[in-house]
Amino acid sequence: MEQHWGGQAMSGRWYEQAIVYSLDVETFQDGDGDGVGDFAGLTGRLDYLAGLGVTCLWLLPFYPSPNRDNGYDVTDYYGVDPRLGTLGDFVVFMQEARERGIRVLVDLVVNHTSDQHPWFQAARRDRHSRYRDYYVWTDEPPQDTRAKLVFPTVEDSLWEYDDAAGAYYLHRFYTHQPDLNIANPAVREEIRRIVGFWLELGVSGFRVDAAPYLIEQLGITDAPIDDPHRVLRELRAFLAAQRGDAILLAESDVPPDELRSFFGDGDEMHLLFNFIVNAHLFLAFARERAAPIAASLRALPAIPPGGQWANFVRNHDELDLERLGDAEREEVFRAFAPDKDMRIFGRGIRRRLPPMVGGDPRRVALAYSLLFTLPGTPVLRYGEEIGMGDDLSLDGRTSVRTPMQWSGEAGGGFSTAPPDRFVRPVIAGGEYGYERVNVARQRRAPDSLLNRIERLIRARKECPEFGRGAWRVLETGEPAVFAQESRWKGGRALALHNLAGDECTVSLDRQDLGEGPLVELLGDRDYEAAPDDAGGIRLGAYGYRWFRVGAMRH
Ligand code: GLC
Repeated sequence: MEQHWGGQAMSGRWYEQAIVYSLDVETFQDGDGDGVGDFAGLTGRLDYLAGLGVTCLWLLPFYPSPNRDNGYDVTDYYGVDPRLGTLGDFVVFMQEARERGIRVLVDLVVNHTSDQHPWFQAARRDRHSRYRDYYVWTDEPPQDTRAKLVFPTVEDSLWEYDDAAGAYYLHRFYTHQPDLNIANPAVREEIRRIVGFWLELGVSGFRVDAAPYLIEQLGITDAPIDDPHRVLRELRAFLAAQRGDAILLAESDVPPDELRSFFGDGDEMHLLFNFIVNAHLFLAFARERAAPIAASLRALPAIPPGGQWANFVRNHDELDLERLGDAEREEVFRAFAPDKDMRIFGRGIRRRLPPMVGGDPRRVALAYSLLFTLPGTPVLRYGEEIGMGDDLSLDGRTSVRTPMQWSGEAGGGFSTAPPDRFVRPVIAGGEYGYERVNVARQRRAPDSLLNRIERLIRARKECPEFGRGAWRVLETGEPAVFAQESRWKGGRALALHNLAGDECTVSLDRQDLGEGPLVELLGDRDYEAAPDDAGGIRLGAYGYRWFRVGAMRH
């Protein structure tokens, strides 16, 4: 089939082809030498991000906060935490990002506030305050709500008694994060105001924190909303009215049969994080078998036009294995988190990928090649492009939130402050220390992970099929090989991944693939032998190869 240069019809949906990169301003780059990352530092790194090929940044919460949950405990939705800069610095950052064609998403954390938020302080002090109903109160909490705890090993109840309030308040997450009462129209009005504010400053959308909890009606006895998804529809309509190309990317870690409802009829969330495939990726890595990936892709609901999956390897939280069966979870734990201390909340792993796979660069690269070919939009996290490790001596999920490693200079190039002033220690010494794992060093090494990921991103951008195409899993007869074909607007792209440590040769049904040669786009190495007529395709140990089928364009 013929390829047309420049002939791609526009979908107008930029997020379907975006390369998203998430970072926490606090740990990315310190610009003023006080040991804390800031907007000035981040702005100075925009050329690095543009060079990598990133088209959209997702910033973790940077709002004023007591910072007891990495900023997910907000005290003011309209500002920048003074440690990270000023609103003026934010605007300069936005201008510089726009200059480079990089869009920005910010976190919308409105399931709860910090208990230090002025709304909560007013609410607890005065039963008649107009802020009282911003939160969810009860005089007598229901018995035994343990099953619903998000942090089961840290908290022991969903309800906390507040002396000043003389009542219990609901907190889905930590005790210091009282849940907002979404059934209260005044709260929904506040959310619109927050959304409008950041849109006005130029953001392209929001990562909607804890979306399922945001709209649940737990504990709300007074005038609950009949259809909680109305909240998300209203949010979407407001967003669209303000800025037509802005998007909502939701954290909605629910079972597969509940996922579809968050897309609505194309009138709720634009993107959902693909937690299902994420957990199964790790099962596949543990087994060195392709089947879990294929099965999890098939388990996903059909999504309405304009809906999209956001794929990721690791995020800033634990690797959540809740969506696996008990025996499967144990398998992944045994393979990648043999020590109890590597696990968290009874359901997850608090490590980054490279240490999980014993630092094997082939397995690390394989994971990112998969990320850039799976149906959906890839989301990278800072430090993944250089294979950063974790620091298990840090508490809880902080283990995977250490400062970015820029160079082999003292402090890893993150900050010039004395290391004891660092917001968090940079990983030093050993296999993952900044002396060995850093951007400067990898820039100079042609086959470094950094350079590989840059090439993967370039190839991914040239293969829009992987973003939103119709996909299918191809039979190869080799259980370790995941082979996927994606078709979109007349183009056909093919990706093969060998999850095992043995080389193999697989055959594809050429009839199945249609006319034309297989044109090699990229691989884990230079495979001299092109696929033969019988479709024999060699794959190295943990190898990968991308092809275009019947391509004019390559
Ligand atoms: C989300 C965030 C997590 C945070 C929680 C509470 O799950 O990803 O880091 O602790 O919300 O806001």
